[in-house]
Amino acid sequence: MKSLLSTLLLLFAIVSVGYARPIATSEIAAKSAQGLRLLSLAEGEDPVWKTEAEVLDLLRAGKNFFDVTDTYELETKLRAQTGSAAKVVSDVLRATYAAPSKQTQVRAILGTLTTTNMQSYLNTLTAFNNRYYRSTTGVSASNWILSTVQGFATQYGRSDVVAQQVTHSFQQPSVVVRIPGSNPSAPRVLLGSHMDSINLSNPTNGRAPGADDDGTGAVNLLEAYRALLQGNFRPTNPVEFHWYAGEEAGLLGSQAIAANYKSTGVQVKAHLNLDMTGYYKPGTAEVMALAPDYADSGLNEFMKLLITAYSRIPWANDLACGYACSDHASWNRQGFPTAYPFEAVTGNDNPTIHSASDTTSVNGFSWTHSLEFAKIAAAFAYELGI
Ligand SMILES: *[C@@H]1O[C@H](CO)[C@@H](O)[C@H](O)[C@H]1NC(C)=O
Ligand SMILES: [Zn+2]
Repeated sequence: MKSLLSTLLLLFAIVSVGYARPIATSEIAAKSAQGLRLLSLAEGEDPVWKTEAEVLDLLRAGKNFFDVTDTYELETKLRAQTGSAAKVVSDVLRATYAAPSKQTQVRAILGTLTTTNMQSYLNTLTAFNNRYYRSTTGVSASNWILSTVQGFATQYGRSDVVAQQVTHSFQQPSVVVRIPGSNPSAPRVLLGSHMDSINLSNPTNGRAPGADDDGTGAVNLLEAYRALLQGNFRPTNPVEFHWYAGEEAGLLGSQAIAANYKSTGVQVKAHLNLDMTGYYKPGTAEVMALAPDYADSGLNEFMKLLITAYSRIPWANDLACGYACSDHASWNRQGFPTAYPFEAVTGNDNPTIHSASDTTSVNGFSWTHSLEFAKIAAAFAYELGI
């Protein structure tokens, strides 16, 4: 009894310390002006200031984190407003969804997805020297994605589609395109991937084609969006496709957008994250590996039904992805249901990422594998949006 009480008191003390002394606006302004970044390195721990060199060392060491420099104040305000939760939730949630039921309509759309189109988009994306979030070519990649999604809206006569760039505190803007719902206030269906790439030895100027990380996820969403427009997709719920800036530097674009949606009361039905879909280790069986952590277990159950209904390859349970491992974590952090199907069970995934070698010529890269993720993206949008 005594030890239980002291354990509870200790827990209470840890939680209180964590949030009793929020970092002041003036400190954030002063330190970020010096080039320091505020990083959240682990669940339940206070964020810490790091120099740019230290940030790069963490990236090179493969350590994942949220860079919360730009969102810390908004999150602190949100916590104060909602009052209840001591921190922004990152628990596994449990949303519920109806089983897939639109097979005829969905299959018609899936039949129009092509690997040729995806290869063509990816040729453009990988031709940028890199898509780093603070390089001019990273900005050019964002501009190209925007003009491409606008071009599809024009091509298919969809003046109702809204495409825009979301600007951040750094150069590269994220891109958001919305297919309006007949019920504009219905919870939105979101599909995201990241546009940026990084060469870990020389982020600003080094070659980083980022073909798989995350060119594949980015072109899966371009092609799913295109096919839905071609199929005259008119959803009930608004359906949005996101291309996030600055994922490789601490989930910057997705955090900014997720925190903005939370603070402005945008309702989210479900979020799908595609980050690396084009590789599986030669000799291993093809699967779609579902991240079990920082994802919604109810949405993962829906994903299993969706994959079984629409993909030729089976789902698998992945190993834990860990804290802040990709953009789904930004949505989970704000309490929105999210899922993350990955190219392979961790360990059988692409070993060339974050380098000049992340190209489509790597042994194990497969367009027919990646196509399955474009199919699942289009099916996700249709089944949840209609
Ligand atoms: C980074 O880029 C340079 C120059 O473009 C290249 O020589 C180097 O191999 C790249 N680093 C990695 C880790 O691929
Ligand atoms: Zn990635």
